[in-house]
Amino acid sequence: MKRIAVLVSGGGTNLQALIDAEHNGLFGENGKITLVIASKPGVYALERAANNDIPSMVIPRKEYPDAASYTKAVTDALLKEKADIVVYAGFMTILDRQITEAFPYKMINVHPALIPSFCGKGYYGLHVHEEALKRGVKLSGATVHFVTEECDGGPIILQKAVEVKNGDTPETLQKRIMEQAEWKILPEAVRLLCEDKVTVKDGIATVKDE
Ligand code: GAR
Repeated sequence: MKRIAVLVSGGGTNLQALIDAEHNGLFGENGKITLVIASKPGVYALERAANNDIPSMVIPRKEYPDAASYTKAVTDALLKEKADIVVYAGFMTILDRQITEAFPYKMINVHPALIPSFCGKGYYGLHVHEEALKRGVKLSGATVHFVTEECDGGPIILQKAVEVKNGDTPETLQKRIMEQAEWKILPEAVRLLCEDKVTVKDGIATVKDE
């Protein structure tokens, strides 16, 4: 059974999708959410963990002077937890290579756009949807990818496209992308990792799911 740690910074709707998936048996005996780590105190994601009896801890980004010291604190916590899979679920803090070296191809992130569009530094949360609407794209969506040293640049595991509609605001587009894409492909990607069905070669991830 793989121990799944989930990193959060906000409302935690993606965490909820993972909790629901686990409760519905999607991971079977292959995976279990054993820890939630929040980068801020008081976020609603922590309540979701508590409501479901999942241990949680806060490692406040504000209490660390730089990315290196913060990354060390998070990496140490995940090593202590013996995490097999680490999921960034709306985790808004960029960590450095200490963590990617400790968990190579064991960490995944959900991004609310079709990478390589609208991604990289500064593209997070509602900003992503603001930029997509400014550019007038007719399709956006979500991507689950491995976390590597390059922000939003790791091998892509799953993507799902979602229509942009006339009159969309960043908020309506975000909601549609969450409902139709993120909350589906994130649990699915975790299932695939739990079942060892994702391989990476030459920077390309391949899903073997027959
Ligand atoms: C989600 O849309 C997630 O894709 C995005 O933030 C939101 C968090 O919502 N993540 C990023 O932008 C990371 N670059 P949640 O806390 O309700 O899951």
